[in-house]
Amino acid sequence: MEGIKHTFAQAKKENRTPLVAYVTAGYPSIAASADILVGLEAGGADIIELGLPFTDPIADGPTIQAANTISLANGTTTKSCLKIVRDARSKGLQAPVLLMGYYNPLLAYGEARMMQDAKAAGVNGFIMVDLPPEEAVRFRRHCTEHGLSYVPLIAPATSEKRMKVLCSIADSFIYVVSRMGVTGATGVLSSGLPDLLDRVHKYSGGIPAAVGFGVSTREHFLEVAKVAEGVVIGSQIVTTLKNAPEGQGPKAVEEYCYSITQRRKSRSVPTTNGESDPSNGTVHVDGVVTHQDGKGLADQLEALNSEGETDPELIPSRFGQFGGQYVPESLMDCLAQLEKGFNDAQNDPEFWKEFRSYYQYMGRPSSLHKASRLTDHMRKDCKPGYGANLYLKREDLNHTGSHKINNAMGQALIARRLGKTEIIAETGAGQHGVATATVCAFFGMKCTVYMGAEDVRRQALNVFRMKLLGASVVAVDAGSKTLRDAVNEAMRSWVAHLDTTHYIIGSAIGPHPFPTMVRTFQSVIGTETKQQMQDITGRLPDAVVACVGGGSNAVGMFHPFSTDPSVRLLGVEAAGEGIETGKHSATLSGGKPGVLHGVRTYILQSEDGQITDTHSVSAGLDYPGVGPELSGWKDSERAKFVAATDAEAFIGFRVLAQTEGIIPALESAHGIFGAMELAKTMKEEENIVICLSGRGDKDVQSVAEELPKIGPKIGWDLRF
Ligand SMILES: Cc1ncc(COP(=O)(O)O)c(C=O)c1O
Repeated sequence: MEGIKHTFAQAKKENRTPLVAYVTAGYPSIAASADILVGLEAGGADIIELGLPFTDPIADGPTIQAANTISLANGTTTKSCLKIVRDARSKGLQAPVLLMGYYNPLLAYGEARMMQDAKAAGVNGFIMVDLPPEEAVRFRRHCTEHGLSYVPLIAPATSEKRMKVLCSIADSFIYVVSRMGVTGATGVLSSGLPDLLDRVHKYSGGIPAAVGFGVSTREHFLEVAKVAEGVVIGSQIVTTLKNAPEGQGPKAVEEYCYSITQRRKSRSVPTTNGESDPSNGTVHVDGVVTHQDGKGLADQLEALNSEGETDPELIPSRFGQFGGQYVPESLMDCLAQLEKGFNDAQNDPEFWKEFRSYYQYMGRPSSLHKASRLTDHMRKDCKPGYGANLYLKREDLNHTGSHKINNAMGQALIARRLGKTEIIAETGAGQHGVATATVCAFFGMKCTVYMGAEDVRRQALNVFRMKLLGASVVAVDAGSKTLRDAVNEAMRSWVAHLDTTHYIIGSAIGPHPFPTMVRTFQSVIGTETKQQMQDITGRLPDAVVACVGGGSNAVGMFHPFSTDPSVRLLGVEAAGEGIETGKHSATLSGGKPGVLHGVRTYILQSEDGQITDTHSVSAGLDYPGVGPELSGWKDSERAKFVAATDAEAFIGFRVLAQTEGIIPALESAHGIFGAMELAKTMKEEENIVICLSGRGDKDVQSVAEELPKIGPKIGWDLRF
């Protein structure tokens, strides 16, 4: 970190503002990257931010996201990023280098190993986009131990209280995000910038503040330089690389940086041992706060988002090691506001009175009954005395055809309490989108739904339904074009519109407090089930079963039984074409702990911590993450998780349709198959309740399309 301090101090001595230049590692090619770093420095860049590419960069705009995608397609790994720094150092690069990226690839690499290797490669510090200080206590300690800097981010929405703590933990400089939203060269600078910097300077104690997001020209640079001690440029450098003729990238960025800084730095002669020393500075900035991670900082961070003293009513943000808030700084205060709003509502009997007043509209309580012919069908394959009774909890009969309405209604009410007038949502199968569009129509709120382009194709009927209800549907044509890309896009959009907009997340995923909030509204499923089974059988069920996508219907069914040890909890994930083929969405069965979409949970990822593509015949299960509470129950073994293949889901689909006259959603069909398998291992006097999460009208077309492929595997031929 000395190198960075020295750089700021030196620039100050020379009466100029340093340029911090961002570039994505491995873009446009791995081979060109080291020369590009050298080119940036030659054009006057003082500090380099080297972007570690990630599959799901929620805080980045299209330019940097595209560079990430190309870099990953080039085969860039964390190792190759470190090699780029090493190579650049051996080519004479002197400027401090900060690695900038998302947490999961780093977590997969190993934090301690990363520090060692980064230090050895000539890295000076880290900017972690989705690792706010609350989650970064351990990471920062590692940085400090290795003399590496951890650069905190401050956004326009950052409260005074957070700003104070963030400034106090800065050890080299503070990164100030000039506007809410994603990265990108906009051509205009935020008018609130001087005011924002005034607020930062109040607390920064002389630590330099560098401003990023939106800067692209020398005029911008000079304007920002009037109020800040450093200026960051990213997207425009990436665009410069994109437009450069092949092989000309290093020269092009050098000229671009020169056009900004009007100064050139002679290329250094490489040192004989191949390593230049980027930290040989002895000049210091005026007022460095030498803050140690002493006693009290963790507590301060912990208390950061609570009003005054720690609120004993505050809901826990973790389920074992899972949960938390791994989000860009711009979202932190908004999540704190949401948590408070949700807590207030939860503790307010009037809120629940209002929620229940809409039960008739929602179709609650949903019915629960025995599926006798389904039970008989399953018993045909059982040993004598085996084959538990199968009951159905009919969430498919809810208004809009699935359990999603429970959560959409609850969150819409929270949004109204918070004074939000607009709603955004993501959707996979379209069911959550339809439920959200429905409650928005009901309350007269503007609604925008993000949906992966592949899901738009698969679930055309639901797209039309959302539009009929007055919602705008935005197809997300990035990444795998499914639910996960829709979540990325919804998060990006939310950051830019926090004042007016609430993001109704559709499953028990995302940063705290979303998983708890969604579970709370979905718990109506399990609570009703408990009462209805008491009424019908006089006792608790012996097992409850639900399909698992993000996990909202499962956690809603399971949670009210979680402290009843006699009740087995079984979640059924999508094994797609088989877990062994890699084409599946069985996150708990086939994934590893990591961080995605703001939460630490099981995720499907490569060895490098990149999120892998998923597959399931049912769009609503096609997601590489899962709710943190289910992850906690997996590890504590309170719940068990299995996976059903596409073909097995088709068996469940067919059997329920033909024994009970109920066409289930393909998602729910996974649960039906899993429940039948479980029932075969249980006694015939035992009872299982299946959460029939949705109806299958939306899937009829998909089933027709898939039957030629899947039908022969299960002996189902519907050709006429
Ligand atoms: C009918 C139905 N069931 C289940 C799911 C899976 O979601 P979750 O796991 O959040 O319940 C979906 C998602 O779209 C759905 O539409």
